[in-house]
Amino acid sequence: MTVSVVTGAAGFIGSHLVDRLLGLGHRVVGLDDLSLGQMKNLSQAVKCDRFRFLKTDVGNQSELIAGLDELRGAAVEVWHLAANSDIQAGVADPSVDLERTFLTSFAVLRILDRFEVKRLFFSSTSAVYGPQPGKIKESIGPLLPISAYGAMKLASEAVFSAHVEKYPTQLSIFRFPNVVGSRSTHGILFDFFNRAASNPKTLEVLGNGTQQKQYLHVSELIDAMICVRSACQEKRGLYNIGPLDTSTTVRAIAAAFKEIAHPEIELKFGQSDRGWVGDVPRFELDVSKICDLGWRPHFNSNEAIFRAIEELKQERNL
Ligand SMILES: NC(=O)c1ccc[n+]([C@@H]2O[C@H](COP(=O)([O-])OP(=O)(O)OC[C@H]3O[C@@H](n4cnc5c(N)ncnc54)[C@H](O)[C@@H]3O)[C@@H](O)[C@H]2O)c1
Repeated sequence: MTVSVVTGAAGFIGSHLVDRLLGLGHRVVGLDDLSLGQMKNLSQAVKCDRFRFLKTDVGNQSELIAGLDELRGAAVEVWHLAANSDIQAGVADPSVDLERTFLTSFAVLRILDRFEVKRLFFSSTSAVYGPQPGKIKESIGPLLPISAYGAMKLASEAVFSAHVEKYPTQLSIFRFPNVVGSRSTHGILFDFFNRAASNPKTLEVLGNGTQQKQYLHVSELIDAMICVRSACQEKRGLYNIGPLDTSTTVRAIAAAFKEIAHPEIELKFGQSDRGWVGDVPRFELDVSKICDLGWRPHFNSNEAIFRAIEELKQERNL
């Protein structure tokens, strides 16, 4: 049986991926240092005897390899999701992204050196593109990211591409925009819920609300990843994953949040057209390549947002 190793397993997306892989009958080893992730996200997974959790710093190569000794002789697939997901922390101190985003990827190379890794799946990001006009295809270039996070993800893509040349390992890279849904550990809705909990009267929104982005529901992201796993034949497959609509605005998200979760709250917008330094205020991914593999998202950005607000409201017993 193939063993799936998931780094960042206790995080938002990682924990949903673990649940899906277990549901498909896989044996799963989940790794996380619990810096941002939480064990409660794995409360279903730990009940399954095909799941093992290892609390470890994925960036520490010797600790990582020692913890995975059980993989000797097994066919392995690696899903690398561990990273710094706090883009603003990396703007303040780029060493955060060097250590948690790039060096975790660099350490994953050792898993390829030690074990028989058939597939390597890497969660990259739309932030690698930086500001780009029009619909962004995977083939666009040059890529000049404007955040340390985007830069270290792009560097990770490059180092994975180089390293798989030595092995029969098939590499699949996912570039996706903002993801929303239950168990969020960061992002616009997580931020809104936290701000409203500390100040139920006024919601201070970062930026003037005109920032326009695509949002994807986590369930559809996992569908897309599993679709690539079954249908991609390329040695190095690079896939944008996103909704089919152009985008929604921060203003529309704030209005939906008020309507569904906090009808009494007053919305207060900032002045700038972007939320923070390193934020790409507008972009649109072309997802035709992954759609040709057979995946189709069902929600547009607004529907993904509505669904996620309901889920987070329920999660917080509001
Ligand atoms: N959520 C999004 O909107 C989004 C968008 C694009 C790309 N991504 C990428 O998807 C992946 C998952 O993101 P997420 O939203 O679930 O974030 P998350 O923070 O919830 O998950 C990342 C997990 O990695 C763990 N981690 C970080 N550094 C580690 C280390 N050194 N050792 C072990 N574990 C470590 C954290 O504890 C956390 O559980 C990340 O690589 C992220 O960059 C996320």
